[in-house]
Amino acid sequence: MRILALCGSLRAQSTNLSLLTAAQELAGASLHIYRDLGALPHYNADVEEAGIPDPVAALRKYVRDASVVVISSPEYARGVPGSLKNALDWLVGGPEFYAKPYALWSASDRAVNVDAALRLTLDTMSGRRVEAGCLTVPLLGKRPTAAEILAAPAARRALEAALVALRT
Ligand SMILES: Cc1cc2nc3c(=O)[nH]c(=O)nc-3n(C[C@H](O)[C@H](O)[C@H](O)COP(=O)(O)O)c2cc1C
Repeated sequence: MRILALCGSLRAQSTNLSLLTAAQELAGASLHIYRDLGALPHYNADVEEAGIPDPVAALRKYVRDASVVVISSPEYARGVPGSLKNALDWLVGGPEFYAKPYALWSASDRAVNVDAALRLTLDTMSGRRVEAGCLTVPLLGKRPTAAEILAAPAARRALEAALVALRT
């Protein structure tokens, strides 16, 4: 089991990142949090045709090697944060995401539009959503550390159940 986790927020204090970090503490080395979303060039089909940039090749390799991809993302202006959408656009042209199991996580119970938008995009990219592995932990307005998330019984149980679902 190799879980690749993408965080749609670049904030150091991101609640989505805290959620993924909490999951990493439960899953150990089998979960890798990808941290280079902000280093990807803007998607450009001309650049892709001329040769895959190194950061994009690295992202594609992470996706290829993963048995499942987890995306935890905030909603920006009722949609997907640009840096995350940019990463997904770079994955459209490669075979790595095809039929890849994926789950959507959220640190906000208000983020319904980004959830719908990501489902549409990732289904269009022929990903295979693991519904039982999707979760929402309402952390909006809080700034919990990973340890604080794991100390909350409901959040911990939800994370553990999602990780079990992603393993099956
Ligand atoms: C530019 C921007 C736009 C946002 N737009 C929305 C929105 O449309 N809907 C919503 O529910 N929250 C919106 N929010 C609130 C974020 O989703 C919320 O702050 C989220 O918890 C941030 O996630 P993070 O802690 O992982 O960075 C917006 C925040 C920012 C900075």
